[in-house]
Amino acid sequence: MARVALVTGGSRGIGAAISVALKEAGFQVAANYAGNDQAANDFAAQTGIPVFKWSVADFEACQAGIAKVEAEIGPVDVLVNNAGITRDSSFSKMTVEQWREVMATNLDSLFFMTKCVFDGMKKRGFGRIITIGSVNGQKGQFGQANYAAAKAGAIGFTKALAQEGARSNVTANVVAPGYIATDMVKAVPQEVLNSKVLPQIPVGRLGEPEEIGRCVVFLAGEGAGFITGSTLTANGGQYMA
Ligand code: CAA
Repeated sequence: MARVALVTGGSRGIGAAISVALKEAGFQVAANYAGNDQAANDFAAQTGIPVFKWSVADFEACQAGIAKVEAEIGPVDVLVNNAGITRDSSFSKMTVEQWREVMATNLDSLFFMTKCVFDGMKKRGFGRIITIGSVNGQKGQFGQANYAAAKAGAIGFTKALAQEGARSNVTANVVAPGYIATDMVKAVPQEVLNSKVLPQIPVGRLGEPEEIGRCVVFLAGEGAGFITGSTLTANGGQYMA
């Protein structure tokens, strides 16, 4: 029986590439999404990967959504916490709402989603919790006090979880991408991208979503059982943690 993988924010951007890479690697994949019905339906039609709509920032919605995935596909063996948003602003201008929105979607969601699958994974003796971090959670970023805090939080969360899952063959790891060619990065003003971001990337280009998909497939595999609590950095040399 193919293992079941659930990818949050799995129908667009990096998440879509992760969903497809896991499917190609033989997993049965379910993709969660929150907002864009059109994009999600197009993704499902193109890939054959079923999509499930709920907000990862809402615990009850996570419980109901995961129950539906498990009823239709099976118990979740691999959880990829990928869903995330930015609300960039210099700290002086950042509002409480911009702080809270990012914390809810990027950090609360890790607790909510993982809470729903962790005990089942431990009981079955296999699990992979893979959380998508960011170079900006490792090094900080002008305009991202909220996002950097949430992404740094993901690393602490993962290290704690890794210790609790280890005896049951449930690993927890972070993949920390750098700047990847997605809508999120395209939202950065072109001038800022050209003058501030690209010159910091030794490889000299943005990453491709598929490059992150391959990292996730590696950590999701049976052969990655000795890797837990780690952060796999994929940022073109921008920051060497
Ligand atoms: N370093 C130093 N100074 C910077 C700076 C930087 N990176 N970015 C802007 N500044 C400076 C400007 O030059 C300007 O200085 P002057 O006033 O002396 O001219 C000043 O800060 C502007 O400050 P404001 O408060 O007025 O900022 P703003 O309203 O113009 O916008 C911003 C600031 C929203 C942060 C904008 O610069 C921006 O969008 N930056 C990009 C942030 C970024 O990289 N986000 C990553 C998104 S992708 C992602 O998150 C995925 C991932 O995981 C990698």
